[in-house]
Amino acid sequence: MSSSSTSCCDFAGSYDLSRLPEIKKLEQAALGCDYGGTSWTTRQQVDAILESLQLGTSGRLLDIGSGAGWPGLLLGRLSGCNVTLLDIPLNALLQAAERAADDGMSDRVRIVSGSGTSLPFDDQSFDRISHSDVLCCLPEKLELLQESRRVVSENSRMHFSVILPAEGLPQSERETVLATGPPFVGVDGSYPELLHASGWRVESCQDVSTEYQNSLQRLVDGIHANEDELADLLGADELRAKREHREDQIALIERGSMRRDAYLAIATNTRG
Ligand SMILES: C[S@@+](CC[C@H](N)C(=O)[O-])C[C@H]1O[C@@H](n2cnc3c(N)ncnc32)[C@H](O)[C@@H]1O
Repeated sequence: MSSSSTSCCDFAGSYDLSRLPEIKKLEQAALGCDYGGTSWTTRQQVDAILESLQLGTSGRLLDIGSGAGWPGLLLGRLSGCNVTLLDIPLNALLQAAERAADDGMSDRVRIVSGSGTSLPFDDQSFDRISHSDVLCCLPEKLELLQESRRVVSENSRMHFSVILPAEGLPQSERETVLATGPPFVGVDGSYPELLHASGWRVESCQDVSTEYQNSLQRLVDGIHANEDELADLLGADELRAKREHREDQIALIERGSMRRDAYLAIATNTRG
C-alpha cells in the first residue's frame, strides 16, 4: 500500500465506526451489504454498475474514493477483474485489504492511498472507473474527472453516483441542502458540463433519488429498531443527532430539493 499526505474531509472516524458489528447491521439493513460502506450504493445497484461498465475478467478497474472497498471489491469479485482501490484514510484502506484477503482476492486487488485529484498512475493505466458519492465529498470535481480521463484510454467506461441539489432552488432551500447534504454537495455548473469539459461523454444519467431515500429510511428504521445498543455505543445524544440528520435528508429528497444521480460516461478522444 503506498501512501499520500493529501488531506480530505474527515471520513476516518466513519471508517472506525463502520467496522463495528452494530454499524454493519445498519449497513446491511440500509444497503444490503457489509463492507463498511459510506456511500448510498446498494447491493442491487452493484449489479447495474457491473452491467453498465461491461466488466469482465480482463478489465482493469480503478475505484476512486473506495473507502473500505465498497463497491469496488464486490465489482472485482463478481467480474473476476483486477481492481485498484484508491482513497485517503488509511483505516478504510486497511479494512479493504482485510476484506480482500477474507474474500481470497488479494492477488487481484491493489490498494493505494492517494488523491483522486492527482492520481499516482501513468496515463491509460485503466479501462474502467467507478466512484460512489465521491464528487459530493470534495470541492475539486473537475480535477477528479480530468484525472480519471487521463488514466484511461479512449472509449473506456466510468460509472459514478453523486448527490446534488436540485436545479433552480430558492436561495434559502439551496443553503439548507448545502448544510444538510454531503460535505461538498454543491456544484458550480452541472455534471454534464464538467464531464464534457474533462473529456467524457454522458452515455446515460439515471435519477436514483427514490432508492437513496428508501435506503435512508431503512437506516432510520434500523436506528429505531436497535436504539438501545446503538445508544450504548454512540451515546443517546449523538444517536439522536445522527437520526435527525438522516430524517432531514429524507425530507429534502421528498420535497425534490436534493437528489442522487447515477452516470455512465465514455472517454472521448479529447482530454479536456
Ligand atoms: C461517500 S464516501 C464513499 C466511500 C466508498 N466508495 C463507499 O461507497 O463506501 C466518499 C469517499 O471519498 C473519499 N474522498 C474524498 N476526497 C477524496 C480525494 N480527494 N481523493 C480520493 N478520495 C477522496 C473519502 O475519503 C470517502 O472515503
